[in-house]
Amino acid sequence: MLLKNSEGDSSVTPLPPAECKYLVWTSYNGLGNHILTLASAFLYSLLTGRVMLVDRGKDLTALFCEPFPDATWLVPTNFPVDFQVFESKNNQSYGNMLRYGKISIASSGVVTGPPLPFIYVHMTYRYDNNDKRFFCEPDQEFLVRMPWMVLKADNYFVPALFLNRMFEPELSRLFPDKETVFHHMSRYLFHPSDTVWGMITRYYQSYLSMGREKLGIQIRIFNKDESPLDLVADQAINCTLREGLLPPVALDRPIVSANLNNTKVVLIASLHSQFSDRIRNMYWEHPNKGGAVVSVHQPSHEEWQQTGSENHDLKAWAEIYLLSFADVLVTSTGSTFGYIAQGLAGIRPWILVRPYGGKMPEPACMRETSMDPCFHSPPWYDCKSCKSFSDPGKEISYVTHCRDVPDGIKLVGRTD
Ligand SMILES: *[C@@H]1O[C@H](CO)[C@@H](O)[C@H](O)[C@H]1NC(C)=O
Ligand SMILES: *[C@@H]1O[C@H](CO)[C@@H](O)[C@H](O)[C@H]1NC(C)=O
Ligand SMILES: *[C@@H]1O[C@H](CO)[C@@H](O)[C@H](O)[C@H]1NC(C)=O
Repeated sequence: MLLKNSEGDSSVTPLPPAECKYLVWTSYNGLGNHILTLASAFLYSLLTGRVMLVDRGKDLTALFCEPFPDATWLVPTNFPVDFQVFESKNNQSYGNMLRYGKISIASSGVVTGPPLPFIYVHMTYRYDNNDKRFFCEPDQEFLVRMPWMVLKADNYFVPALFLNRMFEPELSRLFPDKETVFHHMSRYLFHPSDTVWGMITRYYQSYLSMGREKLGIQIRIFNKDESPLDLVADQAINCTLREGLLPPVALDRPIVSANLNNTKVVLIASLHSQFSDRIRNMYWEHPNKGGAVVSVHQPSHEEWQQTGSENHDLKAWAEIYLLSFADVLVTSTGSTFGYIAQGLAGIRPWILVRPYGGKMPEPACMRETSMDPCFHSPPWYDCKSCKSFSDPGKEISYVTHCRDVPDGIKLVGRTD
């Protein structure tokens, strides 16, 4: 089989003959996006009978063990195609083939086009209406015939697969409990490498294992002007006190005898150290009313996100995994790290509402409706009329808008 490098380029690259059909996942954006899209691509491959291969990118092999014994999901390093060249402008993308009429949609809705050795599917948050047709039934009937599919995505797109009537019956059989989709897939697919597992277990044994109760707080600040660090620290304290996740301090008493049976460890994951300092000081300066022994730990504070830096990603992955050992989680609006931790843990977190204009949001936090991650940029697209603005959160009862990102959609347990 031959794979053209790009439209109009006469150089061609040999690909192995396709005995199976393949999906090649390519790495794009940060670690959180990688984990969410690997899971999405895996589920899609399962539904469409494809073997999934992983284009390893910079540090994937340093972070994860292979999920399947005696097999590899990695594209061989000597593979003749550079999958990183694919992006939105690429004319071998499904969306652009529709745009330029290489593939067409008949008035009957049937999708037709020439036999192609491979197709590129562009699914980043900046995808357009042509790209979004990926989620439509007639388009999937066409795409299933492509021997090779190359995918670039940055979102957890599973909820939109449930909106596809071809996939929905099988998905409902696989996952009777809808909100556990990512929970099962993440535990099945993502095994920390030995290096990361060493970091996880050493930290756990040193700082977390003695706590009878474990509270994980994950704080991500997207905009320091709208969400100043001091305000977010107040907010995290307000949320945890109000929801009874941390014990109230006894301002009127210098001493409360400690109840050594009641130990609480707080694990804080953040790029900044302010939050753990604040909470730690609060329980150092004052006793708490129940005499609980509260210890506060933060593995790292790197100050800024270093996407693609291997050492940073090792720590970030270890911290996500450590958070997943918590009994209760508080996470930040729209944070992929939070989504992965809550999915691995199998719990619904409290979400810190994103502050605007430097003001404390009211309420400071709210309970998430399900443990499954939010698909931030779902297709607001109507397959039948080929137009925008069909509300993807209103089609079936168990796919609703996310509380933290209202334009997004997510799977919830309710089926009534
Ligand atoms: C893709 O095809 C269109 C129409 O044929 C053309 O105008 C455009 O320049 C091509 N883009 C690239 C990146 O080759
Ligand atoms: C949390 O913030 C709200 C609104 O500002 C305030 O009314 C409430 O007393 C605060 N609660 C705590 C525990 O700080
Ligand atoms: C702590 O637990 C022990 C053993 O269960 C019990 O005897 C003791 O009364 C408990 N102490 C407190 C302060 O609850």
